[in-house]
Amino acid sequence: MSPIPFFDLTRQYGQVGDQVKSAVLSVLSSQQFILGETVSRFEKRIADYLGSSHAVGVASGTDALILLLKASGLGSGDAAVLVPSFTFYASASSVCLAGGRPVWTEVDEKLYVVSPETLEDALQTQCVRGEDGVFRTREGNHPVRGVLVVHLYGQMADMAGISAWASSRGLWVVEDACQSIGARKDGKSAGALSKGAAYSFFPTKNLGGGGDGGLVTTEDPRVADHIRSLRVHGSRQRYIHEELGYNSRLDAIQAAILEAKLEFLPGWTDRRRVLAKRYSDAFSSQDVFRTPDWTDEGNSVYHQYTIEFHRPSDRDRVKKILSDAGIGSEIYYPVPQHRQMAFKPFFRSGMDLTDRLSSSVLSLPIFPELSDLEQAHIVQVLLDASRKGGV
Ligand SMILES: Cc1ncc(COP(=O)(O)O)c(C=O)c1O
Repeated sequence: MSPIPFFDLTRQYGQVGDQVKSAVLSVLSSQQFILGETVSRFEKRIADYLGSSHAVGVASGTDALILLLKASGLGSGDAAVLVPSFTFYASASSVCLAGGRPVWTEVDEKLYVVSPETLEDALQTQCVRGEDGVFRTREGNHPVRGVLVVHLYGQMADMAGISAWASSRGLWVVEDACQSIGARKDGKSAGALSKGAAYSFFPTKNLGGGGDGGLVTTEDPRVADHIRSLRVHGSRQRYIHEELGYNSRLDAIQAAILEAKLEFLPGWTDRRRVLAKRYSDAFSSQDVFRTPDWTDEGNSVYHQYTIEFHRPSDRDRVKKILSDAGIGSEIYYPVPQHRQMAFKPFFRSGMDLTDRLSSSVLSLPIFPELSDLEQAHIVQVLLDASRKGGV
């Protein structure tokens, strides 16, 4: 069997190449590269797909988070935001770059996303409530203003529960949906029950552009209007600047590519779910690692299919067995955010679950173009490794 990559964009291009080329050519013919009709049309179409009232294209998922946090009121340099440590770096860096400070939270041990319980635990252990009802960090007395929820691996958190919990504590909520485009919980997409959601169109995302790109969705017209202003230098009227903004627009070429690919996204998501179910069924006979939780079937869009080894020491050996067999796998994420040098002022000990997950998770190939034969081979190699006790 030929090597099986972790991800292969060239296979996708084989399917969408014609549509993508003609979409790019139409932008080149128009010579309208910044905002304009192509970006507006894509924003309308993706808002419809996500069931959101407003969608605003920006330059990256990271920028989507920063602008959304700014539009939520962050910026004083003083306020704190609850954010999981078990996530990609940009979830937490955006809090700092928007002028806030992270209060690290653990995630639910089955779903790998925050829950009202993990958030309450972080608040109780790291903050105290003042007589004015505001929670402040025990260290530094910083007021806690909001929560950043990350829908990791394509699995949505319990937004109904989290929103109710947050409003009872006077906190706003924003969502990092960079890995969960198209996921719905109780019929609702990210952004429906919060200030808004941030999406990434990084090329390897479920909907990826031909470069960087991002999006904010929201139900609140004031938030949408604020993001539209922040993405063009804090300006609503040409050469009039009401606040410090950014140059963070989604390029028309990216919007055209994304619009062409959006047609394919529902089919790609279905295929990811088929592959995920097949992995989970095949692995139910072994007890060396656990598979993603299926209690909420149909929710995840399986940006990643991530298994967790019961003995962390087994993870690296299995990764090597896969690699020796020519099979790609990845660790998301090997260093948790509370241990990153970039967040040195916020180092924290006692994040036991997050530390354990960082040393025991492994993501397997799950891109839509992975063939049935390739998946069967991956399953066989993993099951053999488990049976042999070689792990
Ligand atoms: C969870 C998460 N948050 C934020 C980002 C940042 O998105 P971008 O790379 O588009 O800036 C990513 C993707 O890279 C991500 O996976």
